[in-house]
Amino acid sequence: MIAKQIEPERLQRQQAISRQVKEQISSRSPTYYIETYGCQMNVRDSQTIAGLLEQMGYLPAASKEEAKVILFNTCCVRDHAEKRLLANIGALKERKDGEEDLIIGICGCMMQQPDTAKKVMNRFPFVNFVFGTNVLWRLPEIIQCALSGERVTATEEEGFAIAEDLPAQRDSQYSAFVNITFGCDNFCTYCIVPYVRGRERSRALVDVVEEVRSLASSGISEVTLLGQNVNSYGKGMDVDFADLLKAVNGVDGIRRIRYMSSHPKDLSPRLMEAIAQNSKVCHHMHLPMQSGSTEILRRMNRNYSREKYLQLVDKLRTVVPDIELTTDVIVGFPGETEQDFLDTLSLMDQVGFSAAFTFKYSPRKGTRAADMPDQIPEAVKKERLQRLNDLQTRKTRENNQKYLGHRGEVLVEGFDQREQTLLFGKLGTFKMVYFPGDKGLLGTYQTVTVTDTAKNSLLGQME
Ligand code: SAH
Ligand code: SF4
Ligand code: F3S
Repeated sequence: MIAKQIEPERLQRQQAISRQVKEQISSRSPTYYIETYGCQMNVRDSQTIAGLLEQMGYLPAASKEEAKVILFNTCCVRDHAEKRLLANIGALKERKDGEEDLIIGICGCMMQQPDTAKKVMNRFPFVNFVFGTNVLWRLPEIIQCALSGERVTATEEEGFAIAEDLPAQRDSQYSAFVNITFGCDNFCTYCIVPYVRGRERSRALVDVVEEVRSLASSGISEVTLLGQNVNSYGKGMDVDFADLLKAVNGVDGIRRIRYMSSHPKDLSPRLMEAIAQNSKVCHHMHLPMQSGSTEILRRMNRNYSREKYLQLVDKLRTVVPDIELTTDVIVGFPGETEQDFLDTLSLMDQVGFSAAFTFKYSPRKGTRAADMPDQIPEAVKKERLQRLNDLQTRKTRENNQKYLGHRGEVLVEGFDQREQTLLFGKLGTFKMVYFPGDKGLLGTYQTVTVTDTAKNSLLGQME
């Protein structure tokens, strides 16, 4: 489904409010701080929130302690993130008691869960406002209310329309996240995302390309196209993800195209060809397997079997021989037997991922799996996670070995804070390489030869 746009008049009204706020706070130059939890979607949303705040005249704070506006951009994909967040908000109560003008807001996926916004507002009376993932564009109005002492809850917005052209404060001058789809239609039975982020909507191809073009003209050379399932980009429209890759590949100034995540069920031969044929598309795919047991995959509603996953990997490696794969795996899904888990270990062993994000299943209220029988005891999940991680550590080490002597191009992304002459950056395959060099090379592309390996990364020498 193509994403519906917010009416221009409503955005103009917010811009007018933004100017009013700017006037109101200009004599104080207050600062803001955003604490971001969760995935790249939230990171990207935080950049928009920062952009909107800066448009209103707020400046970035060096630390949470000195900020006058503190925002928590939340995630609820697993229990852990929630607990951490609640503790962090609670810790601000004392500060708010002695600091009348401190503004505290909470946003993100967790606030989209039924009743959570209300609960948070009741439990933390010192919180000024709560807003959901699809009303970022209303931030000027929300801040204006907070400045006048009014508490606001803004979590619903009809139809999940999106706002193009919101300002964004990006943290890198070379690499940028670009949303291509919002929401998710897959309803994996363990996952809360479709409930909190709504139905899948794709941005128009021209809008994505226009944004990439404008990023390129501001010096960005690497873009990461973001969606819960980028492979289904354009569903219900007359373009697909392969078309989008081709179009972005044609943008001058862009040197690297990354994307995430890819759902195996929508990984088509046409898309594999597009990855091979468009030279700027990096040879890395994040292809979450979740489990190696066909029966668990069925109960997860993943729409592929163990065999199908393996076939896809084989085909992909035929079409794009040097492609590197990373993955997500869940252990302890309801009813997961020791044999199911052994199947996960063996699939992971067989595929050989360069890295894996591994999770203990965490029941999410409102999802189908939360009500399934045979929930797995915590101790079993913990033990399985440990075994899975041990295997991946070994696989990562093995995989790193194949890079010894490898020569490849790295985008210099940063330098080690302790050893200022140690630079780092990623190869096209997403492998991180550390190598000696001068800070002045930040943002450039350098050819590096790999000379040694570390636990999760590589060491090299520049040419
Ligand atoms: N849309 C992406 C993933 C989004 S969530 C995709 O499908 O690839 C990121 C990862 O969190 C998932 O891949 C899954 O491994 C994990 N995850 C999601 N819900 C979870 C839950 N309830 N418990 C544990 N892990 C979960
Ligand atoms: Fe969640 Fe599945 Fe959608 Fe990913 S594809 S966001 S795991 S429902
Ligand atoms: Fe979390 Fe929302 Fe992402 S629930 S993982 S921040 S889409």
